[in-house]
Amino acid sequence: MSTINYTDKIPNNVNLADDRALQRALEQWQPNFLSWWGDMGPDGSHDFDVYLRTATSVDPGGWAHFDYVKMPDYRWGIFLTPGDQDRKINFGEHKGEAAWQDVPGEHRANLRRIIVTQGDTEPASVEQQRHLGLTAPSMYDLRNLFQVNVEEGRHLWAMVYLLHRHFGRDGREEAEALLGRRSGDDDNPRILGAFNEKTPDWLAFYMFTYFTDRDGKFQLSALSESGFDPLARTTKFMLTEEAHHMFVGESGVSRVVQRTAQVMNELKTDDASRIRAAGVIDLPTIQRYLNFHYSVTIDLFGADHSSNAATFYSSGLKGRYEETKRDDDHQLNGQSYKLLDVADGKLVEREVPMLNAMNEVLRDDYIKDSVAGVGRWNKVLENAGIDFRLTVPHKAFNRQIGTFAGTPVSPDGRVISETEWAANEAKWLPSAEDRAYVASLMGRVVEAGKFANWIAPPAMGINRQPVDFEYVRFN
Ligand SMILES: [Fe+2]
Ligand SMILES: [Fe+2]
Repeated sequence: MSTINYTDKIPNNVNLADDRALQRALEQWQPNFLSWWGDMGPDGSHDFDVYLRTATSVDPGGWAHFDYVKMPDYRWGIFLTPGDQDRKINFGEHKGEAAWQDVPGEHRANLRRIIVTQGDTEPASVEQQRHLGLTAPSMYDLRNLFQVNVEEGRHLWAMVYLLHRHFGRDGREEAEALLGRRSGDDDNPRILGAFNEKTPDWLAFYMFTYFTDRDGKFQLSALSESGFDPLARTTKFMLTEEAHHMFVGESGVSRVVQRTAQVMNELKTDDASRIRAAGVIDLPTIQRYLNFHYSVTIDLFGADHSSNAATFYSSGLKGRYEETKRDDDHQLNGQSYKLLDVADGKLVEREVPMLNAMNEVLRDDYIKDSVAGVGRWNKVLENAGIDFRLTVPHKAFNRQIGTFAGTPVSPDGRVISETEWAANEAKWLPSAEDRAYVASLMGRVVEAGKFANWIAPPAMGINRQPVDFEYVRFN
């Protein structure tokens, strides 16, 4: 068990003090990070005292320390899950060999690319969410937003540590570039599509944290199996924080659904215009937001057929979700996997070597996991006696990456014409009018214990505090 020395400039459990060159490199990067946070972090929040969780050590008792913190003073630390001297590489061609403590020369470029791509998503989401504090539906939600934001900042630190520690000069250049790209920027955008989309309102924020942070969970889980031990240990610790982000999303959508169901029962109607007139979000609009965030997020897993994905797996760089819990040979040569393809205007199954389908394998595991939460939202509707059910669209719906890019597919999985797509797009994806309506509901509610009209209060507060606790002091 290692405890963090908070007098250090950069709290860590990686013996930073023993590596002067690395410490200096990080201390040079830190002011640039803080200046990025000042420009692109939560808008207008610098003086707030926020009731935040800070990791003070990696053991179960220490990683969730709660106190009031001004966000620019948050201690973004570097934490690795403790190492196992005997850890082996558990999959691919190097299976059974000792895990790497340093980057193997032949895998250097691929590992750097994997780390940079993961690292890029972390500041991107902070940028996407930076205006949301101005329209928080409650003080409780505002605090949760800020918690997610500071931890995404810490995840950036985690990846930058690996770049500085293991990749020399080009690692330092990549770390700088991570502060240079901007979500949605025409000239210098973030690397992945979903991280250049806007998160303009709180329904989008909850959908994002439910679906897109869950992509984070699956990517990090696959990397936590890596034969490159420092990456495995870093991502393992990141996963402990990720769980809260998905909780914010799942409970957020659930509370929106609950409030809508309540108003529908009060008014005894499912007429969207009457429901909107009562100031809550109608269920078809929630479904369209779901369709959008789900389809944009499953694109993040990459092309369904990918030789890079095969290389990442065979080289021992990136495993499957819960790799070590599976009982196969963990090498997968000669095994096959079913992909969907388009032939004669229909979706058809096609068998390919499993190694080339590793993106699809991870995407399918993600899909199973995300469907479970949608079922829990439907329980809220069922308990309220409402017949409407939310569903995830077919995985070929609205895809921009892989086989289905450019093929119009309906949410129920039919290949359709461009005309049919155009005629139905506003039924399937949030229209400008939907977004304007949801935006019109967004007003700041920050009195302790009060909630905006369109969302139900949570069942309980954070860290066993009451729901009406003063989660943010505005000064
Ligand atoms: Fe993250
Ligand atoms: Fe996250």
